[in-house]
Amino acid sequence: RAEVVINGSSSPAVVDRSNDSIKHNIQPASAKWRHNQTLSLRIRKQILKFLDAEKDISVLKGTLKPGDIIHYIFDRDSTMNVSQNLYELLPRTSPLKNKHFRTCAIVGNSGVLLNSGCGQEIDTHSFVIRCNLAPVQEYARDVGLKTDLVTMNPSVIQRAFEDLVNATWREKLLLRLHSLNGSILWIPAFMARGGKERVEWVNELILKHRVNVRTAYPSLRLLHAVRGYWLTNKVHIKRPTTGLLMYTLATRFCNQIYLYGFWPFPLDQNQNPVKYHYYDSLKYGYTSQASPHTMPLEFKALKSLHEQGALKLTVGQCD
Ligand code: CTP
Repeated sequence: RAEVVINGSSSPAVVDRSNDSIKHNIQPASAKWRHNQTLSLRIRKQILKFLDAEKDISVLKGTLKPGDIIHYIFDRDSTMNVSQNLYELLPRTSPLKNKHFRTCAIVGNSGVLLNSGCGQEIDTHSFVIRCNLAPVQEYARDVGLKTDLVTMNPSVIQRAFEDLVNATWREKLLLRLHSLNGSILWIPAFMARGGKERVEWVNELILKHRVNVRTAYPSLRLLHAVRGYWLTNKVHIKRPTTGLLMYTLATRFCNQIYLYGFWPFPLDQNQNPVKYHYYDSLKYGYTSQASPHTMPLEFKALKSLHEQGALKLTVGQCD
């Protein structure tokens, strides 16, 4: 039985900071790409040995109670107490229970989406996953509008909503949350101690204003399980990015997975500059020394899966 080759090299992978996008040449969206169903199923099965997206997508109400103490995943010496608000917002059953979708889109936040015209195509997928509350309205032509699940690292509250310093920022966040209109809001609340207050502020806003979202808080074991799966496949990531986490989870409930906005390089395939995010002015240095992510390495692994038909990466314009 053939193995899934995600990273051919057996030597420890290093962070590729060369930003040499030429090496990552991907055929244009219109070029022939065929879904490899057998491989997708095999990957699903392999990942299921490490985690089960249906369970690990969120801690459930029955497993925690207010006052319980949790050790942060990356700061084991720091703890948090499960607040009444957090408890209220824990789902009773998995938001992905028995869910299966024909096609899913995972929308990363790279500036490569600008002028892609991919919005319509993205919105045709059965289930659309977005990252870090990235804005859609103003960029609909390129990124689409449909949102079934959106992630929110606590750091987003600082970066995109000025830590809710005044009523204007609180209102902006509230508007964004209301616009989610019933979709899943996925908040990694137990990762690092820095996010404590931010998660509490968001929880409070949701409850106070009866925001129509289905909150989910990833399980304590998810991150290590995802990392374990990729390490086993010789992809030596330090800490999986949100995008890679989403792909790994999606393999469980999506038959075909389409990735957009994954391009961690400052130049596109034609050597034109690419913004780090399509919607803000964050710079590329952000992913280097200071960041625990190894995005180019992840990209290499995803590109290999694209070439084998396990997923489809779109890094140029849509038809
Ligand atoms: N991404 C990418 N290329 C970029 C920017 C983002 O491939 N230039 C992908 C990554 O998989 C990333 C996802 O899009 O996880 C969402 O982007 P972002 O919000 O920047 O996510 P993270 O870096 O994971 O979030 P954080 O910086 O809070 O850790």
